[in-house]
This record gives sequence, C-alpha cells and structure tokens, in this order.
Amino acid sequence: MLTRHLYIKTFGCQMNERDSEIIEQMLAEQGYLTVSKAEDADLVLLNTCSIRAKAEQKVYSMLGQLRLEKEKRPSLRVGVIGCVAQQEGKRIFKRMKHVDLVAGTQQIYQIPAMLERLDLDPTKHEIATNLSSDFSIPPFQKLLLSKDSAVSPAPTDYKKFVTIMQGCNNYCAYCVVPETRGREISRPLDDILEEVTLLIDRGICEITLLGQNVNSYGQTNSVSSRETDFSDLLHSVSRIKGLKRLRFTTSNPKDLSDKLMRCFGEIDILCPHFHLPVQSGSNAVLKRMNRKYTSEMYLEKVNILKGYRPDIALATDIIVGFPGESDFDYQETMDLLNTVRFHGSFSFKYSDRPGTRSEQFDDKVPEDVKSERLKIFQSRQDQISLERNNEYVGSNLEVIVEKINDGSIQGRALTNHIVHFQPKGPSPEVGDIVFVVVENAGKHSLKGKLT
Ligand code: SAH
Ligand code: SF4
Ligand code: F3S
Repeated sequence: MLTRHLYIKTFGCQMNERDSEIIEQMLAEQGYLTVSKAEDADLVLLNTCSIRAKAEQKVYSMLGQLRLEKEKRPSLRVGVIGCVAQQEGKRIFKRMKHVDLVAGTQQIYQIPAMLERLDLDPTKHEIATNLSSDFSIPPFQKLLLSKDSAVSPAPTDYKKFVTIMQGCNNYCAYCVVPETRGREISRPLDDILEEVTLLIDRGICEITLLGQNVNSYGQTNSVSSRETDFSDLLHSVSRIKGLKRLRFTTSNPKDLSDKLMRCFGEIDILCPHFHLPVQSGSNAVLKRMNRKYTSEMYLEKVNILKGYRPDIALATDIIVGFPGESDFDYQETMDLLNTVRFHGSFSFKYSDRPGTRSEQFDDKVPEDVKSERLKIFQSRQDQISLERNNEYVGSNLEVIVEKINDGSIQGRALTNHIVHFQPKGPSPEVGDIVFVVVENAGKHSLKGKLT
C-alpha cells in the first residue's frame, strides 16, 4: 500500500479530539501515517470549532497559511471538517479556493471514500454535510478499534474518551452546538460497553464518557431503549473488569438528577471531580440564556454532591458579558464564585454566533466591559484555585503516572489535579498508580514526594 502522510490539527472540545482519533484510525487503515507538521503531509485536515468567533478565526488564519503551502506543493490535499465545516458548508470553497474537502460533524466516516474520489479526479471538490434527522441511521460507526486495527493506543496512553452521545437539544441562547452537531442522539449501550472493554484490553485504565449533555443519555432520541439512563450507564461501565477510573463530561445542571448525583457515593471508581458548567450567577441572565435552572438550584446541587462525595473537586464554565448583563448580574456571578469556590473554571467573554438566539438580542455589552469583567473573574479564580490547592498540602494522593520527562514525573490525581514528583528507585511507568504526599501547591498543579 502506498504510504501517505496525514497532518490533522484539532481545535475545540474533546468531541473533536475523539473524532480526530477515529479519523486517524480510519486513515491509517488506508495507508496514512500521521505526522506532526503540515509541511511533511500529503493531506492536511483541520478539525474545526465554532463555539466562539475567535475559534473560527483561527481556522481561517491557518487556512491562509496552507494556501501558501499548496502553492508550493499543488499535490497537497486540504480538508476542513468539524463544526465550522458543518456551519459554513460550501461557503468554505468560495472563501478558500484551495480547500479540497469539507466534511460535517456526522460525516467523518465518509472521509476515506471522499479522499478516494479526490484521487481519481483531483480537480473536483468533495463535500458532505448532512445532519441525520433519521435516527435509524445513527451517526456512530460500530467500533473502529478492531482487534487487529492498524492503530492501537500508544503505549504512553492510559486514558481515553468514549463518545456516548452526539448533538444537543438544549438550545442555550448563545450556543452553536445544536446547529453544528445536530439533534441529540444516544449511542447504544452495548456498543459503548464493547468499546470500553476493548480499550481496557489494549491497556487503557481510565475512561471519560463524552457528550454535550451526558445527563440526558438515553432520554431523548435514543437508538437504545429509554430504560437506560445515564446513571445506569455509569453503573454498567463501572462493572467492566480492569477499569480503574471513570469520569464523564459535560453535564447541564438542569438534568442533574438525584439518582445521578448518588452515583458519586455508590461507584468507587467514579472520580471525585465534576465539571458542572453554571455560565452565570444571575437568575435573570440564566433565564435569557435558556439554561432552565437558577443559581439557588445550582447551589443546592453542589451541596447534595458534596454530601455524597465530600472530597469532590468542582469545576465550571462561565460566560461574562452576555447581552444585557448588568454590573449587578456580573456581581452575582462573582458571588457564586465566592460561595462555591470552584477548584477551577473556564471563563469566556460572550461571543455572538451566527444563527443563535442571543445574536438577535439588543443590549450587547461593550468589548472593554467584557474584558474587564473577565480579568477580574479570572484573577479571583486564580486566588481561589491556589487556596483550594493548598488544602491538599500534607495529604497522600493516589496518582496515575501520566508523563515522564528527564527524571521528573507528572501524574493525575483522582480530583484531576496535575501532580509533579521525582522518582524514587526505579522509575514508574505511564499508567502506574503511585501515592504522593503533597508538599507544595500552585494554582494549576500540585507538587509532592512519592511515599
Ligand atoms: N455542553 C456544555 C458546554 C459546551 S460549549 C454545557 O452545556 O455546559 C463549552 C463552553 O463554551 C460553554 O460551557 C460556554 O461557557 C462556552 N460558550 C459556548 N458558547 C459561547 C459563546 N457564544 N460565547 C462565549 N462562550 C461560549
Ligand atoms: Fe450548548 Fe447548551 Fe447544548 Fe451545552 S447544553 S452544548 S451550552 S446548547
Ligand atoms: Fe467547538 Fe464544536 Fe466542540 S463548536 S466546542 S468543536 S462541539
């Protein structure tokens, strides 16, 4: 088989990361070897994100650079896939004439066939952007990681994402995801269990179940029975032998049931780490965002979670400067931060996205106000993260070895904290579980000594 070289650049969320892995696997079976620089590639794929305007701009600026590369090497193939591809479709060919292929979020399995057609006629463009509204054709392919797949997890991998659902039906006012990923559809339970089992056979010991709103797994358009909800899925996955750590992301607080929260008390291997995006502390803003919960409801859930798992580390997402956000609304977000004292957060300035409801809202917050609010939020979060991390000094943490660089080791605690330490005696291997006593805390990581 002719060996060709693929460079795939992934923007955006873990969904895209997982999709990129699947694409790499499919193309490896077609003889493509993954390389780490566009200059060394015969095929460049940009797996794109459209969540904020900046994310989209990054894609166009990289496409600009690839135009120059293609002028030098006309045989280079360039493909745009993912959320910008879904959103812009054939407009991408108009704006960027050097793009050969556009594939939307549910069409990644078509990419090998599209490339074969391009081989036959390189002057043509290939495009596939259908979003399935027919749920009898699920946008998931049966397990790709077959026993004799050309690509298996690298020996340095101990953790993987497993996609359990696709799309989103929530229509938060600011969000493009329902547009770019289509309707919510859950993957059959057996497929998920089969994929997790196979990954464990390949040496993986930590799994993160992935979806835009995992809490509603099996409850909307489901290809499996509605009898299995997300907590049932967690229990089933946790019983697979050999799995040491289980995580999931992301959750919408509105669908966080008591049954699901109870899992933190019931499932030993479910890690005490929860990413629960709140977006704002103001009920007026939450209402306009169409989030369907109040800050009081959010705080109540936080307390219940802590009841089931007192050591749970909480993280969140925040948007500042949503249209109409007053100083008072913003202060309520700061108050929420000070009440919950999140271990960490991702915070963003509101960004207008095409086709969203809030794009049409009048009272947009000026850019300089958004920047100022973001700055204050982030510096307060940094202080809190440091204080929170200092609470671990002196404790003995279970850590999985993640990376080994020149004698210094980086690991991951159950709470998802990065922990740095030095080896003692023979160096451990990636995936080993060790115990580390924390001696120092920074705002993004902990440092300690092997016990
Ligand atoms: N499904 C997840 C979020 C996915 S998008 C949830 O429901 O919470 C990741 C984060 O990007 C969101 O939590 C939000 O904080 C941010 N985000 C989404 N759209 C945005 C926009 N238009 N402007 C700024 N931030 C946005
Ligand atoms: Fe976007 Fe809301 Fe869906 Fe999350 S739940 S992906 S923020 S629409
Ligand atoms: Fe971005 Fe699409 Fe994920 S818009 S955040 S890559 S679902």
